[in-house]
Amino acid sequence: MGKIKKIAVMTSGGDAPGMNAAIRSVVRTCAYYSTECVGIYRGYQGLVEADFINLTARSVNNIIHKGGTILKTARSTAFRTEEGRKKAYENLKENEIDALVVIGGDGSFTGGVVFNQEYNFPIIGIPGTIDNDIYGTTHTIGYDTALNTAVEAIDKIRDTASSHNRLFFVEVMGRDAGFIALNAGVGAGAEEILIPEEDLGLDRLLESLKKSRRAGKSSSIVVVSEGDKTGKNVFELADYVEENLPNYEARVSVLGHMQRGGSPSCFDRVLASRLGVKAVELLIDGQTNLMVGLQNNEVQTTSLEKAIKGQHTIDKELLRVSDIMTI
Ligand code: F6P
Repeated sequence: MGKIKKIAVMTSGGDAPGMNAAIRSVVRTCAYYSTECVGIYRGYQGLVEADFINLTARSVNNIIHKGGTILKTARSTAFRTEEGRKKAYENLKENEIDALVVIGGDGSFTGGVVFNQEYNFPIIGIPGTIDNDIYGTTHTIGYDTALNTAVEAIDKIRDTASSHNRLFFVEVMGRDAGFIALNAGVGAGAEEILIPEEDLGLDRLLESLKKSRRAGKSSSIVVVSEGDKTGKNVFELADYVEENLPNYEARVSVLGHMQRGGSPSCFDRVLASRLGVKAVELLIDGQTNLMVGLQNNEVQTTSLEKAIKGQHTIDKELLRVSDIMTI
């Protein structure tokens, strides 16, 4: 691998709060090491279309606190084709770009691994997704902010639930992973937490709600992860409970994409700053095919392949904690 003189950075997949702080960190670390930096708009789609912009330390002024991503993001179908990746490689060569930093989730890293295998192009991944479902890091950028957004929303729902003596099903994001549901559920004091990793079953849900009535609770909140398999969907789940427990008046609230927006928490800003520095330093040091992440509160690396294949498992002890709290 020759000397790295120009690094490109992109955000890919679903946006996450803190992505701008990560872009800022990559750009400023490049400037610190007198390395040129190029931003790629709209992830791999922008790479295929050569939608590039030169970035200097001053290009990223006043973005550390902003949600979303100034580079935009997309899920590219063109890059899934050999032809698309060839075009992407040609665009990188034409613009004398020597290495790539991809800020995104496992889908984005999969694209990076395939591209590296085909063209031996240096790539480092920075985990950015609200789902926290990436192996090799205890926290992905955006997860902490999304969690706090969800808790804040559930706190508000609790006010109306308690005023009307109602049962609320609150759906949070996470199609494959229950990190947001589990932690927001414990943090907001939910009666039950339904996550894709653990099928609670409809009978146990009914039993748990009956128990909560017997214990003298007049309102309840059930946090449901988007990917939970207990019911077909959160609305059917609420109907099922109302049919089987007629003394319950149920409502559904789907938090949706509001969880992806907003100003990043301090935790996400610091994490993004640390991971961006490491990503650029690794590339300058001649390393590739790695993801930077947080382990034991230290910045560590994991091979991109392992990050994709490995399973970041939830802490099931939290389910037990939640059970005890709902006595
Ligand atoms: O991966 C992040 C995420 O927000 C998931 O939690 C959710 O299932 C998905 O993206 C939604 O994707 P889209 O914005 O494409 O509908």
